[in-house]
Amino acid sequence: MAETPLIVLLGNDDDDDDHRALFTEIRRLGGDARRVHPDELVTEVTADGTRFLVDGVELAPDLMFGWVYEDYLILGMNQLETARLAGIPVVNSAMTLLRGQSKYLNSALLHRAGVRHLPVLWGRDEETLVSWTAERGYPVVTKPLMSSRGRGMYRLADEASVREYTRSLDPAPEQYYVQPFVPAGHRDIRVLCVNYQAVAAVTRVAPQGTWISNAPGNTRHRAELTEELRVIAEQAAEAMDALFAGVDVARDERTGELRVYEVNTCPTCTATFRELDMDPVPLLELASFLVSAASDFHGARTGWRPSVTV
Ligand SMILES: Nc1ncnc2c1ncn2[C@@H]1O[C@H](COP(=O)(O)OP(=O)(O)O)[C@@H](O)[C@H]1O
Ligand SMILES: [Mg+2]
Repeated sequence: MAETPLIVLLGNDDDDDDHRALFTEIRRLGGDARRVHPDELVTEVTADGTRFLVDGVELAPDLMFGWVYEDYLILGMNQLETARLAGIPVVNSAMTLLRGQSKYLNSALLHRAGVRHLPVLWGRDEETLVSWTAERGYPVVTKPLMSSRGRGMYRLADEASVREYTRSLDPAPEQYYVQPFVPAGHRDIRVLCVNYQAVAAVTRVAPQGTWISNAPGNTRHRAELTEELRVIAEQAAEAMDALFAGVDVARDERTGELRVYEVNTCPTCTATFRELDMDPVPLLELASFLVSAASDFHGARTGWRPSVTV
């Protein structure tokens, strides 16, 4: 490995502010960083091995960090998995990104790990959904397989709206993904974790008169990273194998218990921390982890601890 470890972020420029803050800190810590768009990467696989090229020049990453989603998820997953197979350490691997972006897999993994989540039902059959909701009670929330900032989510209050929603689904393979509505003061807490360790927590409150706490127009405050929050967020990040994760946690007002809505694996956070007039601590800690992991992946995985938490 070169003396200055090269960390390659695979992604587009949608979250440029996050990438910039991350790269500045990586360089301050003595590493090198660059972003490569999935479209730029050329991959050669032969009997002699695998090579990556950008603009005809070979790229030799010491570590790849995955930040691909939506239209680039599948291509990016292929590139990250190819890198992993070629022996390059990958943080937020292909499978982690798929797990993080798929609500279905989020649910399966959280329940399997015993992390308090929500009962969910996904599929297309109308009668099964109608009897499931009748048994559990209204309202319920429906979400697309992959969403962000609450786009495409609905709160359904009765059987007629459940039937109408089911019939409005596009032709297969679109499915419903339904869970009970949690009364949680229309707020949740985003906990950012690096190497499965919680480093920061931010409360998000839905815009007036709405219930989606991360919808545009929401408000954000610093939240205390309590032991209870830390434990559930870290278990959730680990359940997803997400070495950089944004875990959305709600407190159910009826029981006082915490529940994880989902784990995000490309959690943008610069704008939030700027608004709170704080350093982007999750990205600074992530930079420290990546530099350490680029030199010794196993050592960083087992030994790296955050230096600051907020
Ligand atoms: N079951 C639910 N009950 C109440 N509010 C919910 C529920 N699911 C999601 N929300 C609200 O919607 C927001 C977005 O939901 P989330 O599952 O995190 O999807 P996204 O990927 O769009 O962020 C949550 O932060 C929360 O405020
Ligand atoms: Mg969310």
